[in-house]
Amino acid sequence: MAAPVRRRGRSLGTEEADSSTLTVLIAGFALTTIRSAEIDTAKLRSEAKLMLGVIPDRMPGADNDTPQRVALGRKLYFDKRLSANESQSCNTYHLVDRNLAGVDNEVTSEGAFSKRGDRNAPTVLNAGFHLARFWDGRAADLKEQAKGPVLNSVEMAMPSEAEVLKRLKADPEYPKLFGAAFPEAADKVTYDNAAEAIAAFERTLKTHDRFDDWQKGDDQALSAKELKGLRLFLDAGCTTCHVGPVIGGKSYQKMGLVNAYGTPRTSAASR
Ligand code: HEC
Repeated sequence: MAAPVRRRGRSLGTEEADSSTLTVLIAGFALTTIRSAEIDTAKLRSEAKLMLGVIPDRMPGADNDTPQRVALGRKLYFDKRLSANESQSCNTYHLVDRNLAGVDNEVTSEGAFSKRGDRNAPTVLNAGFHLARFWDGRAADLKEQAKGPVLNSVEMAMPSEAEVLKRLKADPEYPKLFGAAFPEAADKVTYDNAAEAIAAFERTLKTHDRFDDWQKGDDQALSAKELKGLRLFLDAGCTTCHVGPVIGGKSYQKMGLVNAYGTPRTSAASR
């Protein structure tokens, strides 16, 4: 931790001591007292840039993402025919239209035939910046990830890759779009190319917000309260795990440092 950390003394009132104890438990670190201190914006910005870094313009692997490939990926991402009963698309779980945040706001998502998995669907926004995909990191990249849910029996539940390709080839537009997206490929409408195109579309799902503007020098982009929060975030130990330009996604961490982390499968035992 580059940030100086001042420990709270014993002279705190009971209420303050209680809440600070709780925060220390959550964060695992003592907190700097920032209530009355003025924030040194220049120092804060250089620390934030050091620990978090500015989000890059392009995601890793985007070199061959032509507009045609992204357009094909976008169409596939929103296509419900990629699910067994034609009722779910990628966007059913990871909503990115209407400026939504890449999630479905469900505790766990309902797949084809009303089955639910036992993990929360994470956001697709910035997912290509993470070190791996899925909660356990079993897919190395976006392309490998995209192949999973389509064939998963509690998600989109397609019986086989061949069945997916049959639907795509029967469509009046897809063969043409695959041809434009993969002009060099001998075999164009393949499951592998479909996943590659979806990944290309997902590599465009990069966030941009006021924090990015502030890091790049716009002092007005964050309020005084937000700057205090950032100071606290850097000082409290959140950056043990939440580092890098997307403020996390860089390491594997045990969930539930203090208390057991409940999932639908484990919550009966842990709560
Ligand atoms: C020991 C590692 C660790 C520390 C320390 C930590 N986090 Fe997290 N945090 C995680 C992990 C892992 C996740 C992702 C959980 C998931 O997706 O299931 C997460 C998720 C989050 C999320 C939800 C992000 C999202 O996309 O939904 C927020 C907000 C958050 N943490 C804030 C904090 C704050 C604030 C602190 C400091 C007080 C903190 N975290 C400290 C590991 C950590």
